[in-house]
Order: sequence, then structure tokens, then C-alpha cells
Amino acid sequence: MMKCDALIDTGRRAFFTRTAAVAAGAAAATAIPGAPAKAAPALALVSYPVMKLANVKDLKVNEPLDIGYPDGDSPGVLLKLGTRVEGGVGPDGDIVAFSTLCPHKGYPLNYSAADRTLNCPGHYSRFDCERGGLEIWGQATQNLAQFKLRVDEAGDIHAEAVDELIYGRLSNVL
Ligand code: FES
Repeated sequence: MMKCDALIDTGRRAFFTRTAAVAAGAAAATAIPGAPAKAAPALALVSYPVMKLANVKDLKVNEPLDIGYPDGDSPGVLLKLGTRVEGGVGPDGDIVAFSTLCPHKGYPLNYSAADRTLNCPGHYSRFDCERGGLEIWGQATQNLAQFKLRVDEAGDIHAEAVDELIYGRLSNVL
């Protein structure tokens, strides 16, 4: 057994020596004296589709319109809240859109016109539509994904991006 332990010890030391040499070599290769420092390249850039959701004339205050963005498998809701809000677009700055998949475990959210929240029937998380989908109660560990909108001259409402990861996705654009 002593011989066996000694062999294991020798092997372990050789492994650490080789690992240290590889690490030192890698560090030397990346740190070039006198070279200007460069910012790390951005990771996970997502190119979002631009998608027409509706026209301003299609919306009534406090009546949700079902939509899908960035694709048909990602349900959401388009809302005209009636008061200017964060991230709101349109002539009154009151049109917003959110994913309706709860960020906790993906249950479909229901809109409450009474307090302008999206509510989860699964474990009761609640999200404030007047404050950018801020979670105001519950189990979720992130706010609700809000869709970035733009309104053109004809009043058409286009979705152009998403500000949080949509539930169940590794990338918002598949
Ligand atoms: Fe919505 Fe759990 S799935 S709170």
C-alpha cells in the first residue's frame, strides 16, 4: 500500500506541475507587455426580430390584447394603461407589453384590470405593469420580461427587443 500511495502522490504532483506550466503559458500568451488593453468582447448578443403587434387604434384602455414575441411560442400581452408609464410608447406614453410566462416556473399570468398587475395562479407572484413588470410579491427571482416597443407614423406598434430572459429559454431568440 505504501508503494501505491507514493505513486499516487507522484502522479498528483506531476499533474499540478504540468497544470501550473500550462496556466503560466496561457497567462504569458495573453499578457503582452506594452500592448494596449482591450475590452472583452460582448457575449451572447441577441438579434431581435422587429414584429408588428397591433395598431394604436386597436387598443382600449385597460383591455389586454394577446400577442406573441419574439415568436409565436412566447405568449405576451399588449396593454394601454391610460396613464404615462415607464417604457410606455404611443401618443400617451401608456402602451406597454410583457411576457405572460411567469419567471418563476412558467405558469401563464392573468391580467388584473383593477390594479394593473399580472398575476400568477401557480404560486401567486404578482407583477406591476405600471412599473416595468416589477415583481411586487411572490416566488419569482426576476421581474417580468418587458417587450421594448416602438410606434411608427401610421400608429403601428412594433416589438423590437426584450429586457429580461423569458421563462424557459436560454436565449430569448431561438
Ligand atoms: Fe408563478 Fe410560481 S409559477 S409564482
